[in-house]
Amino acid sequence: MSVTVRVPAKVNVQLAVGAARPDGFHDLANVFLAVGLYDEVTVTPAEELRITCAGPDADQVPLDRTNLAARAAIALAGRRGIEPHVHIHIAKDIPVAGGMAGGSADGAGALLACDTLWGTGASRSELLALCAELGSDVPFSLVGGAALGVGRGEQLTALETGGTFHWVFAMAGRGLSTPAVFREFDRLAQGREIPEPVASAELLAALAKGDADALAAAVSNDLQPAALSLFPELADTLEAGRGAGALAALVSGSGPTTAFLARDAEAAEKVAAALRASGTCRAVRLAAGPVAGATVL
Ligand code: C5P
Repeated sequence: MSVTVRVPAKVNVQLAVGAARPDGFHDLANVFLAVGLYDEVTVTPAEELRITCAGPDADQVPLDRTNLAARAAIALAGRRGIEPHVHIHIAKDIPVAGGMAGGSADGAGALLACDTLWGTGASRSELLALCAELGSDVPFSLVGGAALGVGRGEQLTALETGGTFHWVFAMAGRGLSTPAVFREFDRLAQGREIPEPVASAELLAALAKGDADALAAAVSNDLQPAALSLFPELADTLEAGRGAGALAALVSGSGPTTAFLARDAEAAEKVAAALRASGTCRAVRLAAGPVAGATVL
C-alpha cells in the first residue's frame, strides 16, 4: 500500500521583511498564493527510511536526512514512538532552490502522506505545528489557497480571493540560497531604519476582488533588491516579461524564479512566448492560482 500527496508551489504576492531578530529570523508580512505547479510525494512501507526523486531538477535534490520530506517523516514517527521506515518518492516539478517553496512542499507532502499511511490521525493543528518546526513556509504548503503569514511567515490567516490569477514563471539557470538572500538583505539594510512589516490593504482588497490590475499595482517583494544584488541577470528576465505586457514582474520569494502576472490565460501565453524567446531564462511555466494545498490523491 502506498499514499500519494500532491502539493502546490507558491508565489509571494507581498513579502514585507522586518529587521533581523535575535534568533536570526526576520519578522515578515508574507502574502502567499498557491499556484498550480506541483510536486507529488509518495510514501510506501520499507525496511528503512529512503528517498528517491525524479524530475528535471532531481539531481539537485538531497536524498539524505536533510531533505525536508525525510525530516517530516522522522518528526511524525518520533511523536508516535514508531520508526520512520518508509520509501519516500518525490516526483518533482517545482523548481529546486527557486523561491517557490519546493522543499517546503515536499515536507508538507511527506507529513500528510505518512500521517495517512500510518493512520496516526494527527489533528490539523498538530500537523500545522509540525510544519512550522520544519520551516517557515511549510505550513502554507499544507493549507494552500491564499494566506497571510506573520512571525517567521508560519502564523497563517486564510485570505479571501475573488478570482483566479494567471502567472508565468521563469526559471533561472542556477538556484539561490534563502539564508544567503536574507543575509544580503541585512547587508543592504545596514544603517537604515527597517519598518515593521505590514500587509498592504490595497493588496488584500485586490486579492479579495480577483482584480489582476489592482493586484499588479500592489505586489511587492522586499527581498528583490537582495536577490538582484546576488543575481544581477534577473533584471533582464524581469524586463523581458514587462516588455511582453506582464501586468507585474517580480522575484518570487527569495528567488531566483521570476513571476509575471498576466490579465488572463491568453496574455500569459504571450508573456511566456516572449520570455522563452528572450534567452534570459532556463525554462518557462504557466500556472494559475489560488489552488488547494497538500491533497491526498
Ligand atoms: O524557515 P526556513 O528554514 O525555511 O528558513 C530558511 C532560512 O531563511 C533561515 O535559516 C533564515 O536564514 C531565513 N529566514 C529568515 N526569516 C524568515 C524565514 C527565513 O531570516 N522569516
